[in-house]
Amino acid sequence: MSYPVSCFSVNVCIGYEAAKWVAMMGATVIMACRSKERAEEAMQKIQGEFQVEQEKKTPVICDTENVSLEFMELDLSSFTSVRSFIEAFKSSGRALHVLVCNAGVALMPFKTTEDGFEVMLQVNYLSHFIMIAHLLPIMRRSGEDCRIVLVSSDAHRTCNFDVNKMNYSGDPKKFKRWDYYGKSKLYQIMQMHCMHRRLEGSNISVNSLHPGLVETEISRSYQDYRLMTGLNWIAKVLGQMKTPIDGALPIINAVVNPGLKGVGGVYYKSLEHGYSTAEARNETKQEVLWKKTLQLLKNEIPAEIILGLEKE
Ligand SMILES: NC(=O)c1ccc[n+]([C@@H]2O[C@H](COP(=O)([O-])OP(=O)(O)OC[C@H]3O[C@@H](n4cnc5c(N)ncnc54)[C@H](OP(=O)(O)O)[C@@H]3O)[C@@H](O)[C@H]2O)c1
Repeated sequence: MSYPVSCFSVNVCIGYEAAKWVAMMGATVIMACRSKERAEEAMQKIQGEFQVEQEKKTPVICDTENVSLEFMELDLSSFTSVRSFIEAFKSSGRALHVLVCNAGVALMPFKTTEDGFEVMLQVNYLSHFIMIAHLLPIMRRSGEDCRIVLVSSDAHRTCNFDVNKMNYSGDPKKFKRWDYYGKSKLYQIMQMHCMHRRLEGSNISVNSLHPGLVETEISRSYQDYRLMTGLNWIAKVLGQMKTPIDGALPIINAVVNPGLKGVGGVYYKSLEHGYSTAEARNETKQEVLWKKTLQLLKNEIPAEIILGLEKE
């Protein structure tokens, strides 16, 4: 089987392990990353680790000489970059079977992007939303088992849903990072439910997941946040942190498990069905968010694409 996978991000993190194992199982993986240098470094490392797994005769990996990896530039904090990525992907004429929206930032201090949105809202939610909207028509004609995976977080439990406060506009000093990180992750789960309703019975399934508390580079986003870096340190000392491969397992499962063909609308916690909050599962609020998101993104998602999103 050969299928392109998009929106994996790299380095010592969850996306690296997920992209590596999916590629080692025979997929063509497109690493959609903001840094070409870091992506190429990761791709080279994956090729080396593939040779080691082949020598160990690890089951499930493919017998090709190399794994199939490609880099495409994507900076989720810029709609211009997201647009260029979408155009480049469309003009490649290739199919798209799996789209994994993994890249993310956490607990950042208040900052707005060049597009005027709070950065966690744009990177974690809005930019992925635009990509999905534009790439969905390609996925609709890419085969009978296409999948979208949204890497969310149990951090969605820490926030309240308020559609009028999606884009923070208050005093930067009063910005609550936990709340806004949680909100961005809550929106991903709510989006997943909205899309599942619209895609049920089609060739595309959509799921979201919490990878667990994983030791990665995500703390780069909040180096100045002593409380959090301290809590992470304690969790690590107590052995409560997962490794990146453990964190990647639910993604790999959602991408390749043949038993999950056509199964959508699930929030996975590790490999099990997890429970998101009642708010995340509230259909009325999900639809309010959907409408508000399309309104916020009216310049990025034209009417005919919206019609396509609503179809089926
Ligand atoms: N680690 C955890 O405990 C945990 C828990 C729950 C959920 N998650 C979620 O898991 C996902 C992966 O996180 P991780 O822990 O693996 O963190 P990570 O090591 O920081 O990896 C995040 C990746 O996102 C990429 N990224 C950040 N901003 C970007 C942008 N503007 N454009 C494109 N790519 C961007 C980074 O790219 P660069 O390589 O260029 O920096 C990095 O490769 C995130 O969505 C996170 O919210 C993590």
